Amino acid sequence: MKRKEDWYKHMAFYQIWVRSFYDGNSDGIGDLYGVYEKLEYVKSLGVDGIWFSPLYPSPNADYGYDISDYRDIHPDYGDLDQFKKVLEKAHSLGLKVIMDLVVNHTSDEHPWFKESRKGKDNPYSDYYIWRDRPNNWDSLFEGKAWEYDEERGQYYLHLFAKKQPDLNMDNPKVREEVKGIMRFWLDMGVDGFREDVINFISKKEGLPDGIPFLPVIGSMMNYKDGPHIHEYMREFREVCNEYDCFQIGEGPMTTVDSALEYVAGEDRTLDMMISFDHMMADCLYTEYIHRPFDLKKYKKALTRWQEKLAGRAWNVLYLENHDHPRIISRYGSPFFHRESGTCLAASYIFLQGTPFIYQGQEIGMTNIRLGSIENYIDVSTKNNFNRYHIKDDLKKRLARIHVSSRDSARTPVQWNSGKYAGFSKVKPWFFVNKNYKRINVAAQEKEPDSILNFYRKCLELRKNSKTLIYGDYREYYASSREIYMYERKLNDISYLIVCSFMPIPVKVRFPRNYEGREGELVLGNYREGRHKATIPEGGLSFKPYECRVYRVRKSLNP
Ligand code: GLC
Ligand code: CA
Repeated sequence: MKRKEDWYKHMAFYQIWVRSFYDGNSDGIGDLYGVYEKLEYVKSLGVDGIWFSPLYPSPNADYGYDISDYRDIHPDYGDLDQFKKVLEKAHSLGLKVIMDLVVNHTSDEHPWFKESRKGKDNPYSDYYIWRDRPNNWDSLFEGKAWEYDEERGQYYLHLFAKKQPDLNMDNPKVREEVKGIMRFWLDMGVDGFREDVINFISKKEGLPDGIPFLPVIGSMMNYKDGPHIHEYMREFREVCNEYDCFQIGEGPMTTVDSALEYVAGEDRTLDMMISFDHMMADCLYTEYIHRPFDLKKYKKALTRWQEKLAGRAWNVLYLENHDHPRIISRYGSPFFHRESGTCLAASYIFLQGTPFIYQGQEIGMTNIRLGSIENYIDVSTKNNFNRYHIKDDLKKRLARIHVSSRDSARTPVQWNSGKYAGFSKVKPWFFVNKNYKRINVAAQEKEPDSILNFYRKCLELRKNSKTLIYGDYREYYASSREIYMYERKLNDISYLIVCSFMPIPVKVRFPRNYEGREGELVLGNYREGRHKATIPEGGLSFKPYECRVYRVRKSLNP
């Protein structure tokens, strides 16, 4: 076994959704030429690695998550040679590179599916899940989960879009293909995988009906953490064990207990899981069922995962990715853009786990509001619009899209205040957020207190502190609806992270065991440099969305 323990625990990662990152060859589409140019910028954030959302050839029914060739690069983004150049430069800068492994489904334009649909007696016939009659499952993205195929005269299963047929993982040949794909990229030098909806790959035998009247969720127990999942995961793990790499699983709807079955212990099959609980503090399952942000829900989810994983497993820490609307628009406040953006950063980066930052999050990009559903491009956005609340008036329906669409995470990165936000020299493939003149990288580089520079400070602080990486987690004032306060403690060093989520000043009491102690204010988002500070007795007034990180030496009173 080549896998070395734990290098990823010290790291932080940056996620690139390449189509909107940076256009290096001036055709309006982000690409690997652009990534190559911006690697120094990525490095300057203080991260240690990159997760690439799919770069492979794809008809883009789900923007790369519908793959038609697992061993090549989409021509829009470059080619394998250009990828190798990026990989080499990333490595020379000390950045790891992990790829997205999407194997629950392929594109319907993948050669395997083209063969499979030809009939029951060809070598690819059992690569997918075919039935004469569909069951009652819903797809997550487009109507029912079954589509009739004229050519084959049967229905195929698609848990996601119609153009994303599910692979039949029970077929050993399919699992061999997956392992071959892993080896292909690992041999090239990539450092690991983020495994897409990996807890869905093993379906219950016989594909029984789900609970009717419970859309989507009613079908899920028939394929989430299915009967053979751990067996298959072990097979994939063995491949990874031949290399010094690591594996992250995306686990939609996963509970902390079921996540532990993947990520805990020596014989774990994943090193970390992408959980969703803390992303539901303003919605129910999906952002489409929107609710006002509830700080207690956010804290409860984070604390539950921190406590249950403590000493047993490691976790992905994140607030944004290509699947969620922008976090300031959700949990923060565009009116306190800098303040809430920095406060949100401190609320998660100092937890136990490996922090991930999504492109544009580091400058506090916010949601877009497009005037018509035709302007949106994401398949799930369109599906939600056409499937739910269709009797509401158009304005209401569009308002739901504004708060929930994944497209808000997919607008071009705002590099400067020039034309097209400096993303491209020509008209970009998708809308640029109108606020790019105010919110962009160049402006924030110049401003010492910007969100961008705050992320840098957070990552630097974390990287240089064993306590912030390995320390025990404890939450204070769990029932507060105004502040999130947590401690990281290791031996005789403690950090206390205090974040106000209020748009008005609030009085904050420090825990008794901290009051009067001498320490240091190591980080804050209100222009106070690092300095010695005694933790005030009787509390302190926090400004809107103020956050403070204190470091205290010597053990605390219990
Ligand atoms: C994951 C991806 C998402 C994609 C879905 C289907 O959730 O993150 O973008 O649409 O899987 O592949
Ligand atoms: Ca391009």
